[in-house]
Amino acid sequence: MVTAAAPTVPPTKQGAAPFLQIKRVVKQFDEVFAVDDVSLDISQGEIFALLGSSGCGKSTLLRMLAGFEVPTSGQILLAGKDIVGLAPYQRPINMMFQSYALFPHLSVWDNIAFGLRRDQLSKGEIEARVGQMLDLVQLKAYAKRKPHQLSGGQQQRVALARSLAKRPQLLLLDEPLGALDAKLRERTQLELVDIIEQVGVTCVMVTHDQEEAMVMATRIGVMSEGKILQIGKPSDIYETPNCRFVADFIGSVNLFKGTVEVDEPDHVVIASSECRHYVSHGITGTSGMTVHVAVRPEKMTIQTSQPADEERESLEQVGYNLAQGVIKGLAYLGSLTTYHVQLDGGNTVVKVTHTNAARHDASHLTWGDRVYVWWCGSDVVVLTG
Ligand SMILES: Nc1ncnc2c1ncn2[C@@H]1O[C@H](COP(=O)(O)OP(=O)(O)OP(=O)(O)O)[C@@H](O)[C@H]1O
Ligand SMILES: [Mg+2]
Repeated sequence: MVTAAAPTVPPTKQGAAPFLQIKRVVKQFDEVFAVDDVSLDISQGEIFALLGSSGCGKSTLLRMLAGFEVPTSGQILLAGKDIVGLAPYQRPINMMFQSYALFPHLSVWDNIAFGLRRDQLSKGEIEARVGQMLDLVQLKAYAKRKPHQLSGGQQQRVALARSLAKRPQLLLLDEPLGALDAKLRERTQLELVDIIEQVGVTCVMVTHDQEEAMVMATRIGVMSEGKILQIGKPSDIYETPNCRFVADFIGSVNLFKGTVEVDEPDHVVIASSECRHYVSHGITGTSGMTVHVAVRPEKMTIQTSQPADEERESLEQVGYNLAQGVIKGLAYLGSLTTYHVQLDGGNTVVKVTHTNAARHDASHLTWGDRVYVWWCGSDVVVLTG
């Protein structure tokens, strides 16, 4: 999982109203609530990602921001002004579509100039702005080419330049990198963030790719069935998901169903069929409740023996969980190996990832080995939703 490149949230001006406010917005198509009571505040300069699987309502929400759909109810405020009644061209907003179709018969230069000509800007102004945009996306040498003479990544940058040329206050990107292959996608994600930050434009993007959201966005809103389930920085969403859907959707997770047996202010004990889970933080009012214990595969350690004395001492200080099982499968992925371990005392198979830091690091573990798996009580998230 790549998280290091995620830009930081710019500090909001003290007392300043959020730049974009989405208030209780609903969009109903016949019986379908494509967007179902969504409220969201976005600060100036943020790159906000709407993340969710196909059909969850991401594009519909974006299209309402752009003015291509009218909300069934709710308000959308930009810099404090309600924009719901405004036509798309009256909004200081530009949208780059899911397929960013450039005009095939126009050169790069003319593609970028297209919207500016339509707005009847002066010739000098158009030349200056197109020049600036070509500099920004580093395609000056390609100005005379037609789109089919460019690579996918270059076409994508032309589309971005075209969207930014009109200097929108809000840039909307719908699956901006959907047409690119994996390698190019990764590089273009960083280029895109760089360009957006240079211009300083506020951006709402839509993606179904969690890694893309984590690399590009200052904050993420996870959507499912028209609703936003959680909003937070990439690290918050990953480390402290607020429900099973989010935990499962972002990255990989092991979930244990259990009952809260001990509910103290500083720790909780949850009994599941595989083990008693020690959680080293309190969760008030959960005594006797059925909950899910979530542990990320990389937070678990796997070995053929128990933790050595020294390690056990430090583990005991924070509180830890130990289970035994048998390796039922493994996936070697180069930088890491994922082990599938069937735990004793139930049918639960957990995934444990091991970073292959040394060359022949984990090669001694294989199918059928009996192993110990342990994880710290501080790395556990208890999900009540
Ligand atoms: N114009 C429309 N008329 C009727 N139903 C629609 C319309 N547009 C979208 N929907 C429905 O609303 C729901 C949300 O669609 P939307 O396009 O917003 O999803 P999405 O999250 O962008 O999905 P994807 O990742 O596949 O692009 C879907 O059930 C879709 O069928
Ligand atoms: Mg869509």
